[in-house]
Amino acid sequence: MYVAPSILSADFGNLQAEINAICEAGCDLIHIDVMDGHFVPNLTIGPLVVNAVAKVATKPLDIHLMVENNTFFADLFLPLKPKFLTFHIEEEKHPLRLIDHIRKHDVSPGIVLNPHTPVSSLEHIIDEVDMVLLMSVNPGFGGQSFMPLVYDKIRALRELIDRKNAKCLIEVDGGVNGLNAPELDEAGADILVAGNYIFSSNSYAEAIRAIKLEF
Ligand code: DX5
Ligand code: ZN
Repeated sequence: MYVAPSILSADFGNLQAEINAICEAGCDLIHIDVMDGHFVPNLTIGPLVVNAVAKVATKPLDIHLMVENNTFFADLFLPLKPKFLTFHIEEEKHPLRLIDHIRKHDVSPGIVLNPHTPVSSLEHIIDEVDMVLLMSVNPGFGGQSFMPLVYDKIRALRELIDRKNAKCLIEVDGGVNGLNAPELDEAGADILVAGNYIFSSNSYAEAIRAIKLEF
């Protein structure tokens, strides 16, 4: 299991120390939530701050766009060369075109589904992406309660990936902790995002190990 701490719950007054700490604690990716105040009722960080994070980070960036104008925001972040750049399918009229655009920059494209969006909407996209992110909360804020409906969606997505013989990772985001990680693993998740659980813990390393199911 790969773990991607969401820096939304980090101490932004000490961001450099927080990034160093999660990298040393054994995370695999750094999850960055970009919110525009339109697609979601929250406003977070732009390329200036993410660029500063990229300079300090020793792990690859996983940028999650929660915005209305995906191409505009993708063009702001693609030069920073994240490992993954993901966008919401609910907000994109031409997802295949944007996927191509992201890939041309040597960045791995991924699609995000809100809790209510069915996995069947990926039928003709799944071959084209490197990752699907399933939201297990309504996007917009850290520290919300996990929605168990995601378990069935992970299984349905795993089935779709196998049926299409696609090479695509499954990431889950929202309310993830050491208690639900085993069932998420069993259902078929590859990457777990966790913000509040990691950053509110006394030991980032222990919290990350708990999600990785390493005891
Ligand atoms: C929610 C964000 C998540 C969030 C996860 O819109 O996409 O990445 O920060 O935080 P927790 O783990 O606290 O739910
Ligand atoms: Zn996220």
